[in-house]
Amino acid sequence: MKHVYTISDLRENSLPENAKLAVLGYPVSHSASPQMHQAALDALNIDISYIRLELKPGELTEAFTLMQGLGFLGCNVTIPHKLEARENSHVISDSVKALGVANTIHFKDGKILADNTDGPGLIQALEEDFKTSIKGSDILLLGAGGGAGKAIATQLARVGCHKLYLSNRTASKLDDLSQKLSDNYAASIHTIGNSAEELSNAAKGVTIIINATSLGMKPEDAAPFPLESICPHHLVYDAIYSPPKTELLRAAESAGAKTSNGLSMLIHQGAISFQIWTERTPDISLMHRAITS
Ligand code: ATR
Repeated sequence: MKHVYTISDLRENSLPENAKLAVLGYPVSHSASPQMHQAALDALNIDISYIRLELKPGELTEAFTLMQGLGFLGCNVTIPHKLEARENSHVISDSVKALGVANTIHFKDGKILADNTDGPGLIQALEEDFKTSIKGSDILLLGAGGGAGKAIATQLARVGCHKLYLSNRTASKLDDLSQKLSDNYAASIHTIGNSAEELSNAAKGVTIIINATSLGMKPEDAAPFPLESICPHHLVYDAIYSPPKTELLRAAESAGAKTSNGLSMLIHQGAISFQIWTERTPDISLMHRAITS
């Protein structure tokens, strides 16, 4: 079994015989999805190999046709193919309609069905990690104007959070998003910049703080939030999971706040995809061990 397969392998069918699930991306060699899904498949005695497929932009349409021909059950789709995946599908779920892109494809009865499990995965992660309900919660989202931030903001509003503060360094990137959310959902939406004063004031009115900026991935990064404003009642989630403990999470822990990182989001989105394909419930703790050990 190779670490990464390509469109040529699909064309020539030089794949493992039982390869029926895959993650599609460019690049894709770093993806942890195969370890996580393979562990869950093996534990349920489902004889399927989950592979990585590196597809260049523009190769997705052909790849879907070839995969259908080879009897694939489905795939995960990651950057940069999530929009193209939606456009190449016959049926799209409500989640794809709301979030605009797809991360899960199910090949079923000759049709291509698109879903998005990133949003629901995030909500499950927050609710389980923090033992709370997102419906009715007051939340501050950092980096709401980035790619991940927009999807997170939409999902939080969609499931009925109460007050949602959207912060972004480039505040103008929030204009369309806040308009869209206010038009479509009941949540009360407030947009702010990322000055220490604005963030600190917003933090006073929320219980949940989520970091969706890229700050914290590199050791030299500044913190995305004035750390002295974190209180013990805050629930602080960092979408970054590498490193597992960013400066934000370390400071939150020291302040006595509950914390969690994006690994739980990754696992829950994967578990929901797994259920869509197999109609079986995977073992979440096994999936967690498979990507952390
Ligand atoms: P994208 O997700 O759109 O590809 P990104 O460059 O990965 O963008 O950045 C993700 C988020 O981190 C964005 O909200 C970005 O803020 P801008 O929209 O203003 O670029 C935020 N971000 C990245 N670097 C930052 C920094 N040094 N300070 C504050 N926010 C930052």
